[in-house]
This record gives sequence, structure tokens and C-alpha cells, in this order.
Amino acid sequence: MTNNTISSNVVWQQSEITRRDRENMNQHRGAVLWFTGLSGSGKSALAHAVEKRLYQQSVRTYVLDGDNIRHGLCGDLGFSDIARRENIRRIGEVSKLFVDTGIVVLTAFISPFQEDRAVVRKLHQQGDFIEVYCAASLDICAARDVKGLYQRARKGEIKDFTGISSPYEAPENAELTIDTGEASLEESVEKAIDTLKKRNIFNV
Ligand code: ADX
Repeated sequence: MTNNTISSNVVWQQSEITRRDRENMNQHRGAVLWFTGLSGSGKSALAHAVEKRLYQQSVRTYVLDGDNIRHGLCGDLGFSDIARRENIRRIGEVSKLFVDTGIVVLTAFISPFQEDRAVVRKLHQQGDFIEVYCAASLDICAARDVKGLYQRARKGEIKDFTGISSPYEAPENAELTIDTGEASLEESVEKAIDTLKKRNIFNV
């Protein structure tokens, strides 16, 4: 519940079934694994690989992926600083709803601004928000250029491109930092799964 709503005459409706009830049914806790990093740093691939491992352990999950969400919920947003802030605000709120369902939600957004990520962290209860910094360097991401976007951005065909013409502010206190430029996908998945276990999100 936030206090910055401009909707008037709205009253919070309390559900009889609580988050704890849902978590008991799921046999694990809800949480958000928030992957942040440059475009091409492997956020999405890692989020989906972690989801697969969690699925095998009967953990309920969902991946919110930047490129996909921008086809729907955030399809009205571009890449200005303000649009990115709104993108991350919406995903922060959606991720909070998912956590309340007792699901482990994995979000893969560049989320370039420290302040916007801090707002999302504050929105969540202590321990629910687990920030994972996919720390592949700009050189590596641009060399991989999986979607061909870095080349286009360098030619000036895409404006406000993260790392080229728009900043990326690396996290200073992420719960987990993975050098996704060097580590294999399998190693990275293990690190993420270990972090969830250490935080008692699920136990097997
Ligand atoms: S965020 O900055 O608002 O968090 P988000 O993760 O939703 O970004 O979207 C990033 C994806 O949009 C990139 O992986 C890339 O495929 C695509 N994209 C298109 N234009 C840009 C741009 N100007 N900067 C960064 N990514 C872009």
C-alpha cells in the first residue's frame, strides 16, 4: 500500500486468505529475484534457467522479462529516464503482488538507475527483495551484441541506449553479483539457487 495515490475514495480491502496461507500451501516463501545489468548481460537467460531449476524443485515461479513486458503492460513506454523510471515502478508494484501470492518472481530489466531500484527495494518487505547484478562489462555485452542493438546505437540509430548514450549505475550492495561475462550459465544458476536457499526461500 503506497501513500502516493491520487485516486480518491478508495478503501483497502483485506483478504481473509493471507500471504502466509498461500506460502504454506506452496511449501515455500514468496520473493523477488531482481536481475539488473546491461542489455546482453545475460539477465533473461539466467532468470529463465533459474526458473527451470526451481520448477524442478516444485517452486512456483514467474519470469517478468523487460522485452516481453514492453510488448504489453509497458508497451506505452520508451527509454527516456522518466519512461524507465515508470517501467521499473510498475514492475516493482507487479513484483510485490507476485510476492504476496507466495510465488518466486524473477525480473529481468536493465533497471539502470540506483534510485529506482532503491524505491522497489523499499516497496518490498525486508528479505523479500534479492538483487542480482549481472556484471558483464560493456565491452563484453557490446562484443556479443546478441540483438545487434549496440552496433545500431553506436551508429546513432537508437537513441538513449544504455551504456552508449544513457547511463547504467551499477549496484553497490546487491545481494549477489555474478560476473556473467565470465561465469558459465550453470555456475550462475548455482549461485542464484544457493542464495535463495541461504535465505530460506525454499529448502530441499
Ligand atoms: S529498462 O531500462 O527500462 O529497465 P528494459 O529492461 O525494460 O529497460 O528493456 C531493455 C530492452 O529493450 C533491451 O534488452 C533491448 O532489447 C531493448 N531496447 C530497445 N531500445 C533500448 C534502449 N534505448 N536502451 C536499452 N535497451 C533498449
